[in-house]
Amino acid sequence: MALHIKVEIVNPNDLLSGVPSSSTPQFSADTSKIIIQDSLFSSSKKTARLLQSLLMEKEPTSFVIITDSRVRRLYGQKIRELFAPIATTDLIAIPQGERSKTLDCCSEILLQLSKLKFDKNGVLVLLGGGVVGDLGGFVASIYKRGVRYVQVPTTLLAQVDSSIGGKTGVDMPWGKNQVGTIYQPLAVLIDPRFLDTLPERDILNGIGEMVKYGIIANERIFTSLQRKSEFHSLSKTLIDLIEPCCKIKARIVTEDEFEQNVRSILNYGHTVAHAIEASSNFRPNHGISVLIGMLCEGWIARQLGIFEKEDFEREEKLILRILPRRKTKALSLKETTKFVNFAFADKKNIGGKLMMSLPERIGRMHRTSEGSYKIEVPESLLKDAIVRLQSIL
Ligand SMILES: NC(=O)c1ccc[n+]([C@@H]2O[C@H](COP(=O)([O-])OP(=O)(O)OC[C@H]3O[C@@H](n4cnc5c(N)ncnc54)[C@H](O)[C@@H]3O)[C@@H](O)[C@H]2O)c1
Repeated sequence: MALHIKVEIVNPNDLLSGVPSSSTPQFSADTSKIIIQDSLFSSSKKTARLLQSLLMEKEPTSFVIITDSRVRRLYGQKIRELFAPIATTDLIAIPQGERSKTLDCCSEILLQLSKLKFDKNGVLVLLGGGVVGDLGGFVASIYKRGVRYVQVPTTLLAQVDSSIGGKTGVDMPWGKNQVGTIYQPLAVLIDPRFLDTLPERDILNGIGEMVKYGIIANERIFTSLQRKSEFHSLSKTLIDLIEPCCKIKARIVTEDEFEQNVRSILNYGHTVAHAIEASSNFRPNHGISVLIGMLCEGWIARQLGIFEKEDFEREEKLILRILPRRKTKALSLKETTKFVNFAFADKKNIGGKLMMSLPERIGRMHRTSEGSYKIEVPESLLKDAIVRLQSIL
């Protein structure tokens, strides 16, 4: 498949000077740029110049910041002041949490954008976690058949994962992310300072995706996490891992934007995670569901003889150390049939078959002899994995 987009990490100084360094060969229009810098949003002058150089090709008529109620309270005014000197800036806030990731909320935002007379030359600024990013990205992809948008991720999960790669969408009654598009942001602006206000449960949420990167592509990330003695607060190790995680995602998305093959490895743990979320009415948070999903899918990989025993045990030991017991015990995993139905409704399945991407080592995913990263999993094995899960959590 032809390359549609290049996603790369860009040094903000290179962007400002217009001279790419050797590690950032060119700034072409089809490059979705990722900028990671501590205190990026603390310096208003530098941020304003950076935005101007990002928007160089077509000056924006206006900005609309889309955010949620909590992030609005914490950062709404400050971010609005940063954008306002460049163009008229309005703000739309949705209620915080996964329950806002719906078509109803999407219609409401579309209506408000039209009332604001937001036009094709405007730029949406998505300020928040994965919910704002997924919903706002979906709005950007359909409003007037597509407008430009910038991601400003404020949760650890959004900074290492959801803001990169252009997957947008909403949840439906029959499952998570069932309606959506792939539509790349102009830029992803990552400032780890936002994480200073992030509560413990949302830090854990991001760690779930970090463990995933360690297993699917980079053993060093996994080992760094293994060395950590606790996972409930933000540490330098976690901040230092943001960039390596973003690099993995950028590389995979650039290689396979529309998930024909290798991009599916990013879904490790997610078939089960999405089924957990949907069957529990989206109560458990995403990262914790992904950790449980990897426990389940890792065991399936082991039963299929794909995952090395020693690495499977390392994975299980680390995940069980991270998971908060009280919360996981409360999950309704006992309704196995409902759960399996949600797993079969997953978008990754083909022709009614349950398809998963599974690891063979920590840091390497399994590829079939035909070169596919997707493997068919028998329904009975999924059921057994859920029953086993209930005994180990
Ligand atoms: N598009 C993708 O590729 C992709 C990948 C992974 C996950 N996701 C999606 O991401 C969503 C989960 O994202 P999330 O975990 O960021 O959830 P979220 O967006 O609901 O944010 C979690 C909570 O943190 C609050 N918050 C955000 N930033 C804050 C800050 N700096 N300080 C204090 N509070 C803050 C929010 O108000 C919210 O209450 C799920 O819907 C999931 O499906 C998408």
